[in-house]
Amino acid sequence: METRGLLALRKRQVLILFVLLGLSQAGLESGRYSVAEESEIGSFVANLARDLGLRVEELSSREARVVSDDNKKHLHLDLLTGDLFLNKKLDREELCGSTEPCILHFQVLLKNPLEFFRAELHIEDINDHSPTFLDKEIHLKISEITTIGTTFLMESAQDLDIGSNSLQNYTIIPNAHFYIKIRDSSEGKIYPELVLDKALDHEEEPELRLTLIALDGGTPPRSGTTMVLIKVLDINDNAPEFSQELYEVQVREDTPLGSWVITVSAKDLDAGNYGKISYTFFHAPEDIRRTFEINPTSGEVHLRALLDFEVTQSYTINIQATDGGGLSEKCILLVKVMDINDNRPEMTMSSITNRIPENVPETLVAVFSVRDQDSGDNGRVICSIQDDLPFILKPTFKNFFTLVTEKALDREMRAEYNVTITVTDLGTPRLKTQHNITVWVSDVNDNAPTFSQTSYTLFIRENNSPALHMGSVSATDRDSGTNAQLTYSLLPPQDPHFPLTSLVSINAENGHLFVLRSLDYEVLRAFEFRVSAADAGSPALSSEALVRVVVVDDNDNSPFVLYPLQNGSAPCTELVPRAAEAGYLVTKVVAVDGDSGQNAWLSYQLLKATEPGLFSVWAHNGEVRTARLLSERDAAKHRLVVLVKDNGEPPMSVTVTLLLLLVDGFSQPYLPLPEVAADEAQADSLTVYLVIALASVSSLFLFSVLLFVTVWLCRRNRAAWVGRYPVPEGHFPDHLVDVSGTGTLSQSYQYEVCLTGGSGTNEFKFLKPIIPNLPVHESGKNMGENANFRNSFGFNIQ
Ligand SMILES: *[C@@H]1O[C@H](CO)[C@@H](O)[C@H](O)[C@H]1NC(C)=O
Ligand SMILES: *[C@@H]1O[C@H](CO)[C@@H](O)[C@H](O)[C@H]1NC(C)=O
Ligand SMILES: *[C@@H]1O[C@H](CO)[C@@H](O)[C@H](O)[C@H]1NC(C)=O
Ligand SMILES: *[C@@H]1O[C@H](CO)[C@@H](O)[C@H](O)[C@H]1NC(C)=O
Repeated sequence: METRGLLALRKRQVLILFVLLGLSQAGLESGRYSVAEESEIGSFVANLARDLGLRVEELSSREARVVSDDNKKHLHLDLLTGDLFLNKKLDREELCGSTEPCILHFQVLLKNPLEFFRAELHIEDINDHSPTFLDKEIHLKISEITTIGTTFLMESAQDLDIGSNSLQNYTIIPNAHFYIKIRDSSEGKIYPELVLDKALDHEEEPELRLTLIALDGGTPPRSGTTMVLIKVLDINDNAPEFSQELYEVQVREDTPLGSWVITVSAKDLDAGNYGKISYTFFHAPEDIRRTFEINPTSGEVHLRALLDFEVTQSYTINIQATDGGGLSEKCILLVKVMDINDNRPEMTMSSITNRIPENVPETLVAVFSVRDQDSGDNGRVICSIQDDLPFILKPTFKNFFTLVTEKALDREMRAEYNVTITVTDLGTPRLKTQHNITVWVSDVNDNAPTFSQTSYTLFIRENNSPALHMGSVSATDRDSGTNAQLTYSLLPPQDPHFPLTSLVSINAENGHLFVLRSLDYEVLRAFEFRVSAADAGSPALSSEALVRVVVVDDNDNSPFVLYPLQNGSAPCTELVPRAAEAGYLVTKVVAVDGDSGQNAWLSYQLLKATEPGLFSVWAHNGEVRTARLLSERDAAKHRLVVLVKDNGEPPMSVTVTLLLLLVDGFSQPYLPLPEVAADEAQADSLTVYLVIALASVSSLFLFSVLLFVTVWLCRRNRAAWVGRYPVPEGHFPDHLVDVSGTGTLSQSYQYEVCLTGGSGTNEFKFLKPIIPNLPVHESGKNMGENANFRNSFGFNIQ
């Protein structure tokens, strides 16, 4: 018996839908069940699970519901067994009146996916009502000269049952004078007609008492009786005559109580009592007598009860005019009730889902039914929602609608919708009903966190305290709740040997970055790493950002003097020929600084001298030169203290002590070259002097050339340096020389430092131009190791 009606209304619906109530939709099939009225509560109706072809577990998992048309819970679905039971006693007469068949429409509603199954429940009649007559007694006046075969229409009995359980037959006892003839009316009712079988005689029997029995067709049949009292009258010639056989009148349903409806009138030609007319309703059923009353003498009809078009659209009233002699005539009064739009449309919500997830294409929000009890345009309704919302109304069947989302919703765009469903009828005036539904869109983790910047650059001064907060990264997530709860973490560095985790840490909650150790610019100038922010959604989404940490230099290194070496037991001694001109280059203080920038810009300054004014130190390159011509009067030994200072804030400095010995030319005792001293002590000293003098002259010349080139190169280079690095304040000072560790020491300052070996007492040093084939002293190698502390310097020390 069951049929499945899968609703596949895919068509995009227009927002406004005209629905004529009661119009059933063609093409939709339905399941049919039947049950007898007055069945006990809990009576079994059907097994829905089997009929719908569903597994029993599916019913509860898909939240099966039975929704009936009028939203009264007549039926109960047992989700465990799939059985459908009666939830209350059904009275067919109450539900359907005389309508046959009596059908209760209901829907089985399933979710995930949404499905509707329509079904009908036929309520079968049982013979639970007896025929009844409205009057316990019927009075008839029949003239004695009435001919045999004359018929008298009798009031019909009423039986609320239908079909074979309704009224079927009449009979009358005792029936010496009359028999019953059954007459069918156009409305399908049957009337008893009393047919005179044997002539009456007033003188013999002035009054008859008969019992009229109405029988219905049930098994067993039920019956109802009424007493018929017949007065046998003397002769009366003329019957009353109505001016119209049919009166028709239209009455608005909102007509007040007691209003006049119409006046009927009849005439009787007889005089006296036989011409006196009284009006009565004839065979009027209960509802007519309740609603209308007729004045027996004037024939005016008035309203006794309020009319309701929705209950009765028209009344057909038989009015009988009877004269004093018992003769009567009938007319028909047709009262048509005019519909007034007095009923608001009704909306019954069957199911609402207030929370719908975002990103789901089409989601069911609500199921509801509408109806309007008025008829015609007054009963036609328009269903609409606001047209700026991503929701649509779809009719399912008959007067049922669903509210579904039109497309996938985005919570980040809008999280809450107020949907107002408006049902308006087309009557005058229009009546409407509204229902507000608030729909919340629940969050799905569809947004990854985003960092406020794709890369962060943090500057941190070296020698920082450990665990210093050096900055923060921050990300935001457009989702909500745990989907927006962020956790920050460090990503493993690209170079697996880089000790990132011992260097920085990140606060997982707020993205604060801490440097764990004290940094040393001279060791690490910059590093970068990646941080990640992940949300707590499932699955979690994350994004990355680059953090670059630049270590800012601090002036924490004092200048380091490369030449002359300062840790020797005795300061080194320079020889100066007494014949040297003013400006003679005695020696050069060479220093470097481990810092960079300003912190590595060095200046040289003569701090102390045995004879001030004899020697000068060039501030920017550390060259020690004679300031004037030397004379015989000048002391032989001189001690100079040179201050080497960097330009940091505060500046750091170091002092260098130089010992100078003025000599009259380079004589034997002062030039104990190790090899010469060891092997050629006996050689001709004059040759040695000559060689030395020649060498000195050529070296001075070469040195001047070198100096010129150096100064030129240095100027050019400095311009480039200033362009490349931002100079914190002002210009690069002219008196400073930059020896920062980044590049080579000014390229042109390439000297060979020749150290004499042997005992400390005769430790002589002098500068020589680089001449490749000059002998290289063994002892220079010791120095080479020491000088190797920073191999990035292009300073050749042998
Ligand atoms: C009505 O009842 C009478 C007598 O009881 C019977 O003769 C007649 O056949 C019945 N008519 C119907 C339609 O049952
Ligand atoms: C929906 O209605 C409620 C109550 O009327 C109101 O508080 C809320 O702001 C409304 N929301 C929107 C999105 O209009
Ligand atoms: C529904 O909402 C509309 C507008 O937000 C408001 O005017 C109306 O009063 C509400 N109706 C009900 C029944 O709450
Ligand atoms: C000078 O210091 C260096 C290290 O700075 C060392 O190797 C060298 O032996 C020292 N020289 C003397 C003579 O102390």
